[in-house]
Amino acid sequence: MKADEKLNIIIVGTGYVGLTTGLALGYLGHNVTCVDKDTAIVDKLERGISTIYEPGLEELLKDSGKMINFTENMLGRLPAADIIIIAVGTPSKGNGDTDLSFVEAVAREIGAAMDPDSPPVIVNKSTVPIGTARRVETVIKEELERRGAACTFCVASNPEFLREGAALHDTFYPDRIVVGAESVQALNLLRQMYAPILEQTFTPPHAVPRPEGYTLPALVTTSPTSAELIKYTANAFLAMKISFINEFATIAEKVGADITEVAKGIGLDKRIGPGFLKAGVGWGGSCFPKDVRSILFTSSQYNCELQLVQAALEVNRLQRKKVIEKLQQNLKVIRGSTIGLLGLAFKPNTDDIRESPAIDVIRELLDMGARVKVYDPVARDRYRQAYPEQDIVYCESASEAARESDALVLLTDWDEFWHLPWAEIGESMSKKIIIDGRNMLDRDALIKSGFTYSGIGR
Ligand code: UDX
Repeated sequence: MKADEKLNIIIVGTGYVGLTTGLALGYLGHNVTCVDKDTAIVDKLERGISTIYEPGLEELLKDSGKMINFTENMLGRLPAADIIIIAVGTPSKGNGDTDLSFVEAVAREIGAAMDPDSPPVIVNKSTVPIGTARRVETVIKEELERRGAACTFCVASNPEFLREGAALHDTFYPDRIVVGAESVQALNLLRQMYAPILEQTFTPPHAVPRPEGYTLPALVTTSPTSAELIKYTANAFLAMKISFINEFATIAEKVGADITEVAKGIGLDKRIGPGFLKAGVGWGGSCFPKDVRSILFTSSQYNCELQLVQAALEVNRLQRKKVIEKLQQNLKVIRGSTIGLLGLAFKPNTDDIRESPAIDVIRELLDMGARVKVYDPVARDRYRQAYPEQDIVYCESASEAARESDALVLLTDWDEFWHLPWAEIGESMSKKIIIDGRNMLDRDALIKSGFTYSGIGR
């Protein structure tokens, strides 16, 4: 196969990782088939409608979506595939262990229909526990045996580091690409798949411009097991970094320091770095909580306690209570109060509410007898669908959530909250109390407008 030849790539699963990767690889010129069992999802994607909220995704879907095949069934395309990327869900079981049934089901399908004379490279992109590359290989071999076939093939681990809300940006302009594979041929094929990104030879899509000063990403090649552990180590470290600054936010408050300035002061040290030092109501989302629990589960199986990671999880649990404590300090009695909440998504630029701090804060406020009004620019409907039993008032704007509230709590750092008509909002509130759970607002300006302001660690 020539280095510039298009590859036939099948991507199974059209969640944040699968869809973003599929669209990007299609845009870069490969023959891409995106597979999802859900007919409604396939139908929407075929019509150019995005099934997730992600900046730039709909534009790319309209642009290069036409070149991509969306289907519920990959069987017909399997024999011609060069690479099959598994990007299906790997939900958490209650005990922190990971449910691999979707991954294994895909492996069975691959084993049942792949061409043993021309085997594809199979790639685990979903975040999966250590050993899953080997497990997928075993399952495929079992299926091949059932057909009376056998061949040598490679299962590689290629973890994804994209952030929701910046998923396309992170796919086109990553810091590094990690590939764990035992075979040189497999490695070369994946290098070929990623060549346009590794060498940045593509014209940037309109919606995803190349950042100024971006330097070529490194390709880290290693064993599948190390690649699997790299993903968990990265996420555990970042979660720990946030919990670390959140813990210091508590001491900053006690001694009268400002954690945003402390973070700046330490982040300038190259050994520490400025990222993931924003103190706030704690981390959530589909990755950090699940991956932290998963690596804690794995480590417990090896009788090797990850004490720092365990502590990061506990600090994060306590962090969500900080908002309630601040409301109690300011309002004294929560029962009967009206609290306006700004933000339901676990972070801005996404409608994802998984493990969002808002879930815990709302539950606690309702249990304490408060009336809760909420506003989020995009996550409102998702929240309503997920928690239909919660008796809360959904608002059309931040101003509506603030009106006649005794306190306003900012939980997600959406850009639009920065530009709100704060003076007007203050006038419409019963009490001008604001809890800034992300330290994003202009504290001095708010205090000048008569607000009682509480941030996190300042
Ligand atoms: C994360 C990883 O960054 C990504 O590499 C991995 O593949 C998936 O998990 P994501 O969950 O999309 O990505 O969001 P991220 O931007 O990392 O934020 C995670 C959580 O940490 C959010 O709840 C965010 O609000 C919080 N956070 C982040 C902070 O509280 N402070 C910070 O300084 C940074």
